[in-house]
Amino acid sequence: MLLFPLMLAFGLMAGSSSLDNGLLRTPPMGWVPWERFRCNTDCKKEPDNCISERLIKAMADRLAEDGWKELGYEYINLDDCWEAEERDSQGRLQADAERFPSGIKALVDYVHSKGLKFGIYSDMGNLTCEGYPGTTLDAIEMDAKVFAEWGVDMLKLDGCFSNSSVKAAGYPKMSAALNKTGRPIAFSCSWPAYEGGLPPKVNYTLLGQICNLWRNFGDIEDSWNSLSRIIKWYGDHQDTLQPVAGPGRWNDPDMLIAGNFGLSYEQSKVQVALWAILAAPLFLSCNLQSISAEAKDILQNPLLIYINQDPLGIQGRRIAKSGQFEVWKRPLTNHQYGVAVLNNGTDGMPKPFATSLRLLGIFDCQLGHKVYNVLDRTFLGNYMIDDTIAFKVAPTGVVFLFLRSLC
Ligand SMILES: *[C@@H]1O[C@H](CO)[C@@H](O)[C@H](O)[C@H]1NC(C)=O
Ligand SMILES: *[C@@H]1O[C@H](CO)[C@@H](O)[C@H](O)[C@H]1NC(C)=O
Ligand SMILES: *[C@@H]1O[C@H](CO)[C@@H](O)[C@H](O)[C@H]1NC(C)=O
Ligand SMILES: *[C@@H]1O[C@H](CO)[C@@H](O)[C@H](O)[C@H]1NC(C)=O
Ligand SMILES: *[C@@H]1O[C@H](CO)[C@@H](O)[C@H](O)[C@H]1NC(C)=O
Repeated sequence: MLLFPLMLAFGLMAGSSSLDNGLLRTPPMGWVPWERFRCNTDCKKEPDNCISERLIKAMADRLAEDGWKELGYEYINLDDCWEAEERDSQGRLQADAERFPSGIKALVDYVHSKGLKFGIYSDMGNLTCEGYPGTTLDAIEMDAKVFAEWGVDMLKLDGCFSNSSVKAAGYPKMSAALNKTGRPIAFSCSWPAYEGGLPPKVNYTLLGQICNLWRNFGDIEDSWNSLSRIIKWYGDHQDTLQPVAGPGRWNDPDMLIAGNFGLSYEQSKVQVALWAILAAPLFLSCNLQSISAEAKDILQNPLLIYINQDPLGIQGRRIAKSGQFEVWKRPLTNHQYGVAVLNNGTDGMPKPFATSLRLLGIFDCQLGHKVYNVLDRTFLGNYMIDDTIAFKVAPTGVVFLFLRSLC
């Protein structure tokens, strides 16, 4: 078997253990309101677009009934702005009573009844980013206990209204407190994003031991400019970031924005292809009630999800840059690969690109590989090591290939 050489080649990895809660052996998938719904709390004016139990239930219904859940999109998460302005008389976090009249426990039960999981949000500091009560160091144990009592399955812990020493004490402490509840709760840490995302300020060995996923970089916005900056940053810093990801511990380049307003069809394909290469969490953040058929087709692509969820959990790398093209490659189980060819140009027409298995560094089967176009859902053919693989890539677009060994 090729497993051993693969492990050596990709540094899979003496010394890098992951948080021992058994969770997220493949990147998590689900839905989160933030990118699309932000901190809209005006349910009087906008009852369908505000952060409320009504919105969360509606999205849970869509995940359960529109084919998302079967593909693996199983988490329904809250983000900022679910809380009341004050903790309750016992000092416990509580939901805004008007927008969440049934309370979080009932909402979690509803989500579970749909066969889904529930994620909640807090902040390792005095206040959340939008000014709701945060989890201060002295509140960590209580908040973890309350989340566990509610039946929460994931916690995202943000980092506003805080400082480096509070974060350095707080994130490990919350990890231990979640463990102590006895309930498996996946832990998403925003910590590195607040420290610039890179060593020496960020210790990824430690993060891998206490968190299941972490945001490394700034928030995604609904634009190509934002998406492009994120892709560039993960490529430029891959020597640091690529080795630290693996089963149970993922880099998180942030939410999927396909299905919203800012990306073209081709640009939406770029995001999902790169997120599959990067072994990134796949969190939708669009309105699932009004999502277009085109966006749904991209986000529900089974082969794309298969690549994203590969059990080896090896994050891919940018292996070449040539003019306006970038080539990204991710090794998968059983001599399979994902390869994304990104055209970062904006000049008019689709541009021809040619490569071969040899140029891609894929020699592990003398008989060659079957090659599929993932997003077009087509089979391109069987290719020997030196056969030319040629296609055109649209401006600010991608061709995403899946390669399956003929050996
Ligand atoms: C808590 O940590 C221990 C030791 O690392 C582990 O065996 C156990 O599964 C963890 N429990 C939870 C609920 O995460
Ligand atoms: C958090 O609150 C404490 C106590 O009121 C205060 O000393 C500290 O400056 C605050 N930190 C931030 C970052 O706002
Ligand atoms: C960080 O915040 C904590 C708690 O609010 C405070 O006690 C501490 O002095 C702050 N540290 C620095 C370096 O500002
Ligand atoms: C990073 O964290 C690990 C695990 O806690 C620790 O062993 C190591 O010394 C830390 N590295 C640095 C540079 O602080
Ligand atoms: C694409 O090119 C633009 C303009 O040169 C640049 O700002 C951006 O970072 C590039 N994107 C990627 C993913 O390299």
